[in-house]
Amino acid sequence: MADETRDTRDEEYQDEAPEDVEEAPTDDDRTDDWDDWRARATEDDRPQGREDDSGYEEPAPELGRLNRDYVIPGVSSEDSNPYRWHTGEKRDHGGEDAIEVIDLVKQFGRTRILNGLNLGLPDNQISMVLGPSGTGKSVLIKHIVGLLYPDAGDVLVHGESVPNMTDDELFEMRKKFGLLFQDGALFGSMNVFDNTAFPLRQHTDKSEDEIGEIVNRRLREVGLAEATQKMPNELSGGMRKRAGFARALVLDPAIVMFDEPDSGLDPVRTALLCELIREIHEENGGCYLVISHDLGTARRIADFLAVLWKGRIVESGPSDELFGSDNEFVAQFLNAETEGPLAMD
Ligand SMILES: Nc1ncnc2c1ncn2[C@@H]1O[C@H](COP(=O)(O)OP(=O)(O)O)[C@@H](O)[C@H]1O
Ligand SMILES: [Mg+2]
Repeated sequence: MADETRDTRDEEYQDEAPEDVEEAPTDDDRTDDWDDWRARATEDDRPQGREDDSGYEEPAPELGRLNRDYVIPGVSSEDSNPYRWHTGEKRDHGGEDAIEVIDLVKQFGRTRILNGLNLGLPDNQISMVLGPSGTGKSVLIKHIVGLLYPDAGDVLVHGESVPNMTDDELFEMRKKFGLLFQDGALFGSMNVFDNTAFPLRQHTDKSEDEIGEIVNRRLREVGLAEATQKMPNELSGGMRKRAGFARALVLDPAIVMFDEPDSGLDPVRTALLCELIREIHEENGGCYLVISHDLGTARRIADFLAVLWKGRIVESGPSDELFGSDNEFVAQFLNAETEGPLAMD
């Protein structure tokens, strides 16, 4: 049944997508947003410089026009080509993509956070998405696990389209994921052991003995063997993160995502957490995605890097290549230079 709906939707979309946007329909044809855009795209008020600047194409035109129907944080209304640094270059990582994000668009009110984001995250590597604060890194993660629904575009996890999943499929798919949020997101009323056991009790029919075995092993790995009976409010920030990490691992996830695991930690504890993430990844493999704006963390753990800015990936690739990139924005951002395209605004 779900398949039928999907097919129809695809067909409709293809029918509507015009090959040639120059042909303006008559007023009678303006039955929906797409036609409306198609008509407006032929008017003379497009952003100046659109013809001569290469590389600036607006995706998802059915959603409107930059600086008229929506704004992008960090993009001024005078900027005719906000994507001049976005080569979108995808340097080869030599493996398979576990996650693919295709032309992803997400807007809240008039603010468009993601504006045609393209990204492939390799399996069996630690990837990092780096970007200035508020650029939509957490919003991106939420699309990958299906907590947010895209306005346009697609997200594939192991080749399967997340936005097209039914609730049951989504529930199944989420078992592949371990998620670690900023503060560990522990349940305040449960001790460390019960917090860590929670996904196993929720998602499996393992016996309490089996659960105990897994939970104790994971808590040992993250260095919390002595803290199993502690309540979250008795833990330090670093311990809470490690407990969250243990909990993220109990279902042996194929994909683990960390949202700013380094936030609020001092440099030494950040380094220790990075080491732990590396060790656990070496042992378990899988696709790890670490979101951060910390360059030290990137240098320490990332095999693969992507830089997010103005709703799109500027460039992505193996981290040693990205750290040596001659893209001016990437070079500025990854070397924390004060001179360059990224200004204080
Ligand atoms: N559910 C939401 N509703 C409205 N705005 C949101 C929502 N989620 C995120 N935003 C906005 O999107 C922007 C990017 O957020 P976020 O992804 O958290 O940034 P970051 O890159 O720092 O993780 C922020 O300005 C935030 O206010
Ligand atoms: Mg965030």
